[in-house]
This record gives sequence, structure tokens and C-alpha cells, in this order.
Amino acid sequence: ANLANGGKVFAANCNACHMGGKNVVISSKTLNKADLAKYLKGFNEDAQAAISYQVTKGKGAMPAFTGRLSPQDLEDVVAYVLSKAEKGW
Ligand code: HEM
Repeated sequence: ANLANGGKVFAANCNACHMGGKNVVISSKTLNKADLAKYLKGFNEDAQAAISYQVTKGKGAMPAFTGRLSPQDLEDVVAYVLSKAEKGW
């Protein structure tokens, strides 16, 4: 995956709600590793699959990105989120 492209995809599609790994809609559900482990279904079993599922399907106030991101952009933004979560944003 291309993390530089993932960062661009994140800035264009996710920053409105998740700038800096935060969550402006539901403030407890950040993109920090501890919160992903706590709130994101399946994260502890397969982190990439769990993030990818959330992005493609959406959840609650988060829109589904199916058809809005190319398969490559999806793969890259998932890798970017995981990398930032590992490093602590
Ligand atoms: C939750 C990623 C765009 C609103 C999440 C979570 C991830 C994520 C991984 C799980 C966080 C957790 O449970 O701690 C992304 C990515 C995006 C994106 C990669 C761009 C491709 C957006 C946008 C909005 C948004 C644009 C607002 C319009 C939310 C909300 C939740 C959430 C409200 C909590 C959902 C719930 O559990 O009810 N997002 N997001 N997200 N996101 Fe996004």
C-alpha cells in the first residue's frame, strides 16, 4: 500500500470528521489504537479488514464510501489509518 497516497485520500475524504485521528461526531470513537480496539468490531482479530469494512459500509453518521473510492485508494487509506494508529497520530 502507498501511505503517501493514503494520506491524500484521508485528507480529502476523512478529515472533515477525523482530522488528527479524532472524531468530531462521536468524540469517544477516535482513530487511536486503544479506541479502535475498544469500539471497532473485529479490529483485534484483523485490523485492516475491520477498518476496510467500516469505510466501505459506513456506520451510523459515517457515510459508506463504496463506489466513492477506488480499490487502490481504499487499500491505501486503510493502511494510512492503521499506520497512524500504531504511531499515535
Ligand atoms: C468511525 C474511518 C470518514 C464519521 C470511524 C472508525 C474508523 C473510521 C476506522 C471507527 C472508529 C472507532 O470505532 O473508534 C474513517 C475513514 C474515513 C472516514 C478512513 C474516510 C475514508 C468519515 C466521515 C465522517 C465520519 C466523513 C462524518 C461525516 C464517523 C463516525 C464514526 C466513525 C460518526 C462512529 C460510528 C459509530 O460507531 O456510530 N471512522 N472515517 N467518518 N466515523 Fe469515520
